[in-house]
Amino acid sequence: MSDVVIEAKNIEKWYGPTLALKDVSLVVDRGEIVAVTGPSGCGKSTLLHCLSGILRPDQGSVHFQQRDLTVQSEAARSRLRRTAFGVLFQFGQIVPELTAVENVTLPLQLGGSRYRDAAVRAQRLLDRLGVGDLAGKRPGEMSGGQQQRVALARALVTEPEVLFADEPTGALDSLAGEQVMVELVRLAREHGTTVLVVTHNVQVAAYADREIAMRDGRVESAGRVTVTGEVR
Ligand SMILES: Nc1ncnc2c1ncn2[C@@H]1O[C@H](COP(=O)(O)OP(=O)(O)OP(=O)(O)O)[C@@H](O)[C@H]1O
Ligand SMILES: [Mg+2]
Repeated sequence: MSDVVIEAKNIEKWYGPTLALKDVSLVVDRGEIVAVTGPSGCGKSTLLHCLSGILRPDQGSVHFQQRDLTVQSEAARSRLRRTAFGVLFQFGQIVPELTAVENVTLPLQLGGSRYRDAAVRAQRLLDRLGVGDLAGKRPGEMSGGQQQRVALARALVTEPEVLFADEPTGALDSLAGEQVMVELVRLAREHGTTVLVVTHNVQVAAYADREIAMRDGRVESAGRVTVTGEVR
């Protein structure tokens, strides 16, 4: 099987008169951790939304393991997001009315798991991420960094093939942000998860294997960082 997990070919995305993505092409290999960087408004979130099938590009194609997402129905794309993709956004992604463990079990229950089984897996992941003792607490009773860890647990609990993370550390100070990034990378390497992480932060980008630098709707460079050894 090919090592290519995601391939975008010549994608364009318009918002009304604004061309947010201009002829973007890229390839992401299995298990790669890729940082998407660039100034505010350059199209990073739009790119992530197109690659994860949340948005359909106006031109070009996005393949996930040889399947063209751009020709699939909305229902098929959302099924794919539930099963093969994990999505972590910057703000407000966990449900305020639910406890930490309930938030993390949600994607498993949507996939048909029984609550008891899902809760065991959720608790294990919360423990790994250092917030196991907050399992019974609601987001309003947690710090921003703790909420971010719960959100990360929720994005990873289904063991997705690809994790899309848009500024996962954006709301955190640099130490907390670095801790979340270290945990994200550690879990991803353990499971062979492919990661696309949008970040403004050069320290966060340094955890990636490769950086896709964007500017004004285009990919400016997509340099491969040479890594020696298995684990960084
Ligand atoms: N829903 C929308 N409607 C109209 N224009 C939009 C919309 N979303 C984004 N844009 C525009 O598309 C361009 C790319 O936006 P995008 O959100 O992808 O940038 P970004 O790189 O993620 O920025 P940031 O770092 O600030 O999050 C910008 O010019 C933005 O103003
Ligand atoms: Mg953005």
